[in-house]
Amino acid sequence: MSNIDVEILRSFYENPDNYFSGEDIARKLGLSRTAIWSHIQELKAAGLPIEAVPNLGYKLLGQSPNLIAADIKAQLNTRIIGREVLVFQETDSTQRIVEQFARDGVAEGLVVFAENQKQGKGRLGRKWVSPAKSGLWFSTLLRPGWRPDKVTRLTVLAAVAIMRAIENETGLEIEIKYPNDLMIKGRKLCGILAEMLTEVDYVQYVVLGIGINVNTLLSDYPDEIQPIVTSLRIATGEIFGRSLLAAKVLSSLDHVYREVQNKGFSTIAEEWSDRCSTLGKKITAIFGNEKVRGTAIAIDEEGALVIQMDDGTIKTLRGGDITLEKE
Ligand code: BTN
Repeated sequence: MSNIDVEILRSFYENPDNYFSGEDIARKLGLSRTAIWSHIQELKAAGLPIEAVPNLGYKLLGQSPNLIAADIKAQLNTRIIGREVLVFQETDSTQRIVEQFARDGVAEGLVVFAENQKQGKGRLGRKWVSPAKSGLWFSTLLRPGWRPDKVTRLTVLAAVAIMRAIENETGLEIEIKYPNDLMIKGRKLCGILAEMLTEVDYVQYVVLGIGINVNTLLSDYPDEIQPIVTSLRIATGEIFGRSLLAAKVLSSLDHVYREVQNKGFSTIAEEWSDRCSTLGKKITAIFGNEKVRGTAIAIDEEGALVIQMDDGTIKTLRGGDITLEKE
């Protein structure tokens, strides 16, 4: 897919009710009508429902069921995240692909999606189930220039950004479960994984991996996961256009990332702790090999969870894993 495809699609999105003649688009982009025709054929073949009416022109009738890089880019309005967008049909893990690009020195902002991941990675060495063509499975390359202890901020800001985008698009109410799972009514909708290459006091790059269960059904998951998982489709009964949702999520991520870079972390941290369903709850937390019980009482300025143990002592958990105790 090329920039010309992106420009053609942008024209459609700018005036969604209009028909565009091949001649108009050709003039606007400085190309021949035949060249435009062949780009339109390519976009149709990728799954975009483009209607061609003699004497009127072309019109985009709706969204594609496929994830299409040009379609995501045409709906994006970002400065950093999504500078480059790639969609792989199948890979082991988008984390590995982006890490490779990072090692090759690619600039921050690259986003790689996969329609299907054979070995999707979750936090703490777990697997991430990525049913084909029904979610948003992607990784973003970031070079925030921070010290390693500040990286928790990235997962926190990502949780807030994704929560905002999904709530805006769907009207659903999203909860945050510490550290950065997005949930609907206690079931997991989205997971975030940050992997990095770091020196003692400087982070070279972070690969921020995000998995959002969009159009998946419960039957797409192994039996043991079915009781704890959800998707936008399971929660609403609707099927969502993934390229549009991807563009909204990336735009929100770009906005929040730049806000934290320019104005600091405090406003985002506040929104996160306001929406974090873990605070005030009795939890069991795992620190390395140690399992402890207490109450989650606060989130500190770096995004770590402050826990008051049953014996009154205070511990701070950065990342790690918690389970909520049944009330
Ligand atoms: C978690 O909650 O355990 C984090 C899950 C992160 C999953 C995403 S899907 C896209 C990216 N590629 C991967 O292999 N994992 C992340």
